[in-house]
Parts: sequence; structure tokens; C-alpha cells
Amino acid sequence: MFKLNDIIRPNVLKMKPYSSARDEFKGAASVFLDANENNLGSLAGENYNRYPDPHQRKLKERIAEIKGVQPEQIFLGNGSDEAIDLLFRMVCRPGQDSMLHLPPTYGMYEVSAHLNDVTLEAVQLTPDYQMPVEEVLLQVKPTTKIIFVCSPNNPTGNLIEPDSIEDLLRSFNGLVVVDEAYIDFAQAPSWTTRLQEFPNLVVLQTFSKAWGMAGLRLGLAFASPEIIAVLDKIKPPYNINEATQELALQALERQEALQDMVEEIVQERELLMQALPTLATVEKVYPSDANFILVKVKDADGLYKSLLNKGIVVRNRSSVPGCSGCLRVTVGTLEENQELLKAIAAF
Ligand SMILES: Cc1ncc(COP(=O)(O)O)c(C=O)c1O
Repeated sequence: MFKLNDIIRPNVLKMKPYSSARDEFKGAASVFLDANENNLGSLAGENYNRYPDPHQRKLKERIAEIKGVQPEQIFLGNGSDEAIDLLFRMVCRPGQDSMLHLPPTYGMYEVSAHLNDVTLEAVQLTPDYQMPVEEVLLQVKPTTKIIFVCSPNNPTGNLIEPDSIEDLLRSFNGLVVVDEAYIDFAQAPSWTTRLQEFPNLVVLQTFSKAWGMAGLRLGLAFASPEIIAVLDKIKPPYNINEATQELALQALERQEALQDMVEEIVQERELLMQALPTLATVEKVYPSDANFILVKVKDADGLYKSLLNKGIVVRNRSSVPGCSGCLRVTVGTLEENQELLKAIAAF
């Protein structure tokens, strides 16, 4: 049985969170002399002399409405990378506990584990980039606190079979983190719709991809109110800045534009999926539910350099185990994709 208090680090359970000026006084007042701000104003523009809402109340309320969850089920981070780091700090005792991930996958799980002195366990995805769930469960140790499942997976682009994620959620008594950074480009429901069923489920999403806000740094973790309360307790008090909170609130009112952009990117992705296999150097194009495509080519290093010479930068993943010979290509604009296809054809 999963019990949250059994896996939270004892020091985290015991500690008191930082109490900010805005925590200690919430009412209306005319003179604020409590937070050592600059009351003369800001050189950066209106409002920015004041600290932002540490609990991001307005933003969470609006996100909750849109995503069909409760505000108490939302944590907001300075990118989802911050949520990944805080999840380690919440449950993994440095030098003692371990996490498991499924390479080839997103690199920050490993980096964040190393930073937090957490042992890394790895189970390679199958040749068609699915999770071998029985193997994963065999690998689980009493010290394994988190399993990261990236779906759609970066850099392979595919969704992980929901049945295998469900098996994992039912059989593993630690946190199962489903990273859905690319879910807006996929034809699949989010795992946020299953939060009530699984107290050990954490879903990560981000405003960096479909919403086009990578520069503002806003990531989300959805989980039980109990898990979210611990993340909130250990986060830096003002982790989401005022500009990001304001701009995200505005962006959330533009959902039609989001849909239009996602549709256009998916359409461009499908055009690339059709065109790439016709090129002589392309050996395989992997199916994608994301805004990028993994492409196996005859000479990955050569093609990578040749594209660079023409000013086109893609990601060379050919040295990653499970991705030999592969480049990862982000779907661009119509013109950019045409330029890419022309450059690959000329190689
Ligand atoms: C799978 C995955 N998760 C998380 C992130 C990080 O997102 P953020 O910009 O919200 O930190 C990325 C970024 O590329 C990603 O590919």
C-alpha cells in the first residue's frame, strides 16, 4: 500500500516552511513596509517592485478550471525542471535512496538525481520504445522512491502504453511521475484525469511547448493535495515571478489560439512524416505524438554537420544508447521544414 508519509524524507516532514511577509499579512492595507521592497517604484515597470503571490492563487484557480482539477492538486514550478528537482528533495534521502528511469529519455531526471546524490536505476525501453513493466518491477528496490515515465517520450516521440503505466501505478509503492511535457500534441487523454484513482501519481506538464512560453519558465505538477502541500512547503517562496504569473493568466484566455497552433504543428509534423522517408539518407522515421520527430539516418554525424553548415540546428542523439544513427528534429514553421527537407535531400 502506498503511504505518502512513509516515503517523505524525515527532515522534510519535520521542517517548517519559510514564512514570507505575504504569508504573515494577507489583508488590505495602504502602506506596505513589511517586505523590504522599494516603495518608490520599479525601474522595470509597474508592479515589479512588489514580490509576487508566493502561492500563485489566481493562476492556479484558472488552470484548475481549464484542466478540470482542484487548485489544491496543482504545483507551479520555475519550469517543470524545478518540479523534478523538488520531487527528489521531497522523497529521496541523499546517499541512500534511488530512482528509476527508462532511457532513452529526458536527460534531466538523471542530472537532477546526480545533483541530489540519488542512485540511478535504469531499465532500457524496448526496441519499439515501450516500457517493459515486469522488468521495471523486478528492478525496484526498497530504496526506490520515484519512477519517471515520459509520455510522449523525449527523444523518441511516442506515448507509453497506458496499461503498462497503470500496472506500475498499482504495483509500485513510490511515486510514479508521468512527464507529459508534450501531451498537447498527442491524441490521448492526460493522466490528470486519473489522479483520484492513484495517490502515488504525479503528472508533469509545462507551458514551454504547446503554449510557446519556454522563455517564461512555467511548469506544472498535478498530484494529490497531500503531495502538492509538501512540494509547496519545500519550494523557494517566490519561485514564479510576477511577469510570468501575469502573462500566463493572459495566455490562458487564448485557448483557441493554442488549439490553432497545436493543429498547425501537428499538420506540419504529418507532412514531415510523409516527406522524410522518401529521402535517400533516411532509414527510419519513428512515429511521433510530440512536436519533434526522431529520424534514423545513414550518417547521423555527417548529416548533422552538413545541416549546421547551412545554418540548421537539429539535435544529434546518435550517441545515446537506443538511438544510434538518430537525429531529433523539432517541427518548425512551413518554411523551416521545407528548408530542412531540401538540405537533407541535398546531403
Ligand atoms: C520531457 C520533458 N520534460 C520536461 C522538460 C522541461 O520543461 P520546462 O521547460 O518546463 O522545464 C522538457 C524540456 O525539453 C522535456 O522534454
